[in-house]
Amino acid sequence: MGGMRVLTTGGAGYIGSHTVLALIEAGHEPVILDNFSNSSPEAIRRVGELAGREIEFIKGDLLDVELVERVFAEGNFDAVIHFAGLKAVGESTAQPLRYYRTNIVSTLNLLDAMDTHGVRTLVFSSSATVYGTSGATRCVEDLPLGTTNPYGATKLHIEQILDDLAASDPTWHIAKLRYFNPVGAHESGRIGEDPRDIPNNLMPYVSQVAVGRREKLSVYGGDYPTADGTGVRDFIHVVDLAAGHVAALEALPRHPGARAWNLGTGEGNSVLEVVRAFERASGKDIPFDIVERRPGDVAELVADPGRARIELNWKAERGLEDVARDGWRWQSNNPFGYAEPGE
Ligand code: NAD
Ligand code: UD1
Repeated sequence: MGGMRVLTTGGAGYIGSHTVLALIEAGHEPVILDNFSNSSPEAIRRVGELAGREIEFIKGDLLDVELVERVFAEGNFDAVIHFAGLKAVGESTAQPLRYYRTNIVSTLNLLDAMDTHGVRTLVFSSSATVYGTSGATRCVEDLPLGTTNPYGATKLHIEQILDDLAASDPTWHIAKLRYFNPVGAHESGRIGEDPRDIPNNLMPYVSQVAVGRREKLSVYGGDYPTADGTGVRDFIHVVDLAAGHVAALEALPRHPGARAWNLGTGEGNSVLEVVRAFERASGKDIPFDIVERRPGDVAELVADPGRARIELNWKAERGLEDVARDGWRWQSNNPFGYAEPGE
């Protein structure tokens, strides 16, 4: 297969930056569209450094219909990977309209332009949050879907829009990739996750405690019905996740319609196992208190990654030790992420 020219929305972000590198390594030609609302051009510069070539990028907002139209008129794309969006669960509860507008209207603008310009191959960033009300601990793609917060609702609505669109026109090929818990960083230590505020998610919080930016971790709940009482999740190394996007893109010609694939490892690890792995990788103590459960959390959520293995010929290669080692390399080499200290 020849290389594809791929518009990568949100390509400067955490998962996008790793995927852009993986696309180049696989012989494709990504073009980033990002408004840098939650990322830095420095990430793109570093991806370019790792790839040994400059990365084409456009600074722009998907809410800007004219800009999106222009990008497609000039872009000559074969496919799109759509990462751009807002992703903080707590914030989405406080600012639902901002979340619905940014995530859903952006996607509609993108889909309109794709349709107009005959670019009907799309890989979309969905989330395991769509299994939030299923009650299942090991998730297959056909479970009944439901979510407990506005962020999750945007993912679910977009999945529905994509299903309806694919049903209306058989020339669409759409992958709905349901990520479990993306963590870790590229093994170079040059690119990684760089949350702007106090991290909401476990792994960036743990790494900021290890590097001395935060005092201690609050473990949300020690009385879940799990082996050690703390929550269990499927932590997937971001480099494996990036490879999953390349696999989906390359498999899509064989899959007309809209289809969901889980991207996870199939293995669960508890919050305390994550803490211990990070202590081993960093050689630092990670102090923590066990506090109340966080509203909306479930005890355990792990992928059944069988469909992706069979249909995308993809599986996660890395485990928790790799996640902790690479996550620590990124955090210790870049204690303040892409910003200079004091910025
Ligand atoms: P991220 O915030 O690092 O990346 C998103 C990127 O989109 C950022 O670079 C941001 O500047 C850009 N962006 C936001 N709104 C935009 C707009 N209107 N126009 C143009 N660019 C815009 O997030 P991430 O962790 O890399 O997540 C990527 C995608 O994967 C998101 O859709 C997210 O919901 C989804 N996802 C993430 C996780 C996770 O744990 N990180 C889990 C499941 C799903
Ligand atoms: C969260 C989101 C989910 C989103 C995913 C990736 C919620 C309810 N869910 O998943 O929609 O798709 O992130 O962005 O926010 N934990 C602590 N202390 C912390 C942080 C987390 O103990 O400071 C625990 C949590 O209780 C949970 C586990 O660590 O058991 C993982 O939490 P987190 O990293 O936030 O991911 P999820 O909640 O699985």
